[in-house]
Amino acid sequence: MTDEGTLADRLRAHFGHRDHLYGVLLAELADDWDAGGLARELFEGWEDAPARQFPQLRLLAGLFRIVLRGDAPHLEGYYPCLGGDLDAEDAWAAVRPVLAAHVVELHEALSEAPQTNEPARTAGLLVGLAEAVRSSGLRRVRLLEPGASAGLGLLVDGYRFVGDDWAAGPQDSPFVVEGCGLPGFRPERFEVVGRRGCDLAPVDATTAEGAAYLTSFVWPWHLDRHRRLAAALDVAGRLRPAVDAAGAASWVSEQLAAPTADDVLTVVWHSVTRLYWPAEETAATEAAIDAARSRMPLAHVAYEHPLPEGSGAPVGMPLVEVDGRVVAEGDHHGPPLRWPR
Ligand SMILES: C[S@@+](CC[C@H](N)C(=O)[O-])C[C@H]1O[C@@H](n2cnc3c(N)ncnc32)[C@H](O)[C@@H]1O
Repeated sequence: MTDEGTLADRLRAHFGHRDHLYGVLLAELADDWDAGGLARELFEGWEDAPARQFPQLRLLAGLFRIVLRGDAPHLEGYYPCLGGDLDAEDAWAAVRPVLAAHVVELHEALSEAPQTNEPARTAGLLVGLAEAVRSSGLRRVRLLEPGASAGLGLLVDGYRFVGDDWAAGPQDSPFVVEGCGLPGFRPERFEVVGRRGCDLAPVDATTAEGAAYLTSFVWPWHLDRHRRLAAALDVAGRLRPAVDAAGAASWVSEQLAAPTADDVLTVVWHSVTRLYWPAEETAATEAAIDAARSRMPLAHVAYEHPLPEGSGAPVGMPLVEVDGRVVAEGDHHGPPLRWPR
């Protein structure tokens, strides 16, 4: 029992309705847990886990992976992103035997923190990049991204963005983000001459396993996000982003140690990762960036939630910052972008 009640209370409260597959499954798992059923085994050891670890979402992602790899084809009909249109209210009877047949795997899935890589956030980074290109006058760009997840943000030059009165990126890209907003924004021409990222838990987007892993954390009825992720994975297969296993500060410092050509703008950018960094990681990353400014043309572009002084909790929506200056604001998953108020 935690301050938020029993595990069953938390499962029931998570969505608080049965309007979609996960709402139904969490309500059924809660009843099952109260009745001393299979849910007790599945969540063993996680009964009092802090609410923000969301073991229930980890379990549902584990189940989704079983479906994605084709081991429960009769469940596909309950997943709208797989073309399913069956009534979620009928899902529990079909899902329960699958849970029972994969208890060990699903229990292990509880140790996997949700790992998302939202490629539409690249719209915010694009706006920061345009500003950095304009003020440096350099169009050859080396991208370095700490907290990159699978590196889908590093594929900016393979994506198409459409705003209020502007568009950027290849017209034939399979990845198109509409509704980017920002009237009057002027995209800049640029060439990516290097791209590399790091993450504490990198995912290889170029393997079927990595692709399924990322897909499993996107809720099955979020069709636009699934479409975007699939298209970004397609681009990843061509541009093959490299993501090293490392923490932000040590990796940024190592990457910035080597000199670069004078006509290359190094852009250290990151999105929706800083809120997970300890304060020392943020300070050391910024120090490494600042120390490198005298050695190379460099810009620091961030698409991050503001972190108020003295508080660990992020507030509001992510802001696009270029070298600490706010140039636009956006939404958790990217567009629409707005000029700062
Ligand atoms: C919400 S995801 C965002 C991923 C990607 N930047 C995006 O916008 O889609 C946060 C990522 O930050 C990574 N992360 C958290 N702390 C980190 C650290 N100290 N150093 C490097 N990566 C970190 C996590 O592993 C996770 O992949």
